[in-house]
Amino acid sequence: MILPMENKTLWGEDDGLLIPDDLGPWTEDKFDLIRLYCHLFSSGMKNIWTRVYVDLYAGSGLCRIKGRSQVLLGSPLIALSVDAPFDHYIFCENDPERFLALKARVDKDYSTHDVRLVPGRFEDRINEICSGIPKNSLALCFVDPFDCDFDINNLQTISKAAKGVDFLCLLALQMDAKRNIQHYLQPESKIDRMLGNTTWRDRWNNRPNPNDDLAKFLAEEFATSMEGMGYLKTPIHQMRKVKTYDKNVPLYYLALFSKHQRAFKLWEQVLKYSTPQRNLFE
Ligand SMILES: C[S@@+](CC[C@H](N)C(=O)[O-])C[C@H]1O[C@@H](n2cnc3c(N)ncnc32)[C@H](O)[C@@H]1O
Repeated sequence: MILPMENKTLWGEDDGLLIPDDLGPWTEDKFDLIRLYCHLFSSGMKNIWTRVYVDLYAGSGLCRIKGRSQVLLGSPLIALSVDAPFDHYIFCENDPERFLALKARVDKDYSTHDVRLVPGRFEDRINEICSGIPKNSLALCFVDPFDCDFDINNLQTISKAAKGVDFLCLLALQMDAKRNIQHYLQPESKIDRMLGNTTWRDRWNNRPNPNDDLAKFLAEEFATSMEGMGYLKTPIHQMRKVKTYDKNVPLYYLALFSKHQRAFKLWEQVLKYSTPQRNLFE
C-alpha cells in the first residue's frame, strides 16, 4: 500500500548560487507531476527493487517562476526529497554554472544520499551514466530538454542498462517542432533523431486529414518509436498536455514509457491527482 503524499509544492531558499528565474508558472505543474510520480514509483518499489533515479537534463536544482520571489526545487532535488528516497541517483547537467550550483546543493543538503553527478552533455557521458545504474535495478529516467534536440538511440542505450528503465519524457513538440515545421520537413532534421526514423515525413505528408495537429502526430510517432524498443503503447490520452495559463497555448506533452503495466497504473493516479488547479487561481 502506497501512502498518499501531501499535494504541496516543494520550496527552497536563496543560497546565493545560480537560480534560473525565467520559468513560466506552468513549471509548477511539471514539478507536481514529477514529484507525485517519483513518490509513487519509489514508495511502490521499495523493498522489491533497487531503485535508481536518472535525470539527464538536471538543471541547477533550484529555480524561480518569472516575476516571483519564491524559490522552487527543480527535478533532481524533488526526486531527492521523496518520502522513500531512491537507492541511487544520477544527475547529468551540461551547463558548467548550473552543474556547480547543483553539486554544491547536493553536497550541502543530501550528503547521505547516493548521488553520482555527471558534468557535460549526457550524450557524451552515456557510458558513465549506464555504469552507474546497477544491472538488477529498476530505473526512472527523466528526460527534460528545452527542445526536441535529442537522439532516441541514446534512450535505447540507457534502456538496456538495467532490468527495467522507465522514461518520463517532456516532448517539447508544441514549443519547438510546430514553430519550426518548415525546417523540420527538410531532410536530416532533429525530429529524425528524436523519432529515430525519416519515414515520419512521408506519413505526415500523406496524412488523410490535412487539419491534423503536428504536435499530436509527432507525439504519437515518438510513442510508436518507443514501442519499437519494447515499450508498451502510450496512447495520446495518457500523455499530459501542459499549456500556458494565460492564453491556454499548448507547450508540451509529458509522457511515461514503461514495459510494465504497473507503471501506467501509477501514472494514471498522477494524472488524476495532479490536475493543474493553479489555473483557477492565477
Ligand atoms: C529544461 S531544463 C531542465 C531543468 C530540470 N530538469 C528541472 O526540472 O529543474 C534543461 C537543462 O538541461 C541542460 N542541458 C541541455 N542540454 C543538455 C545535454 N545534452 N545534456 C545534459 N544537460 C543538458 C540545460 O543546461 C538545462 O539546465
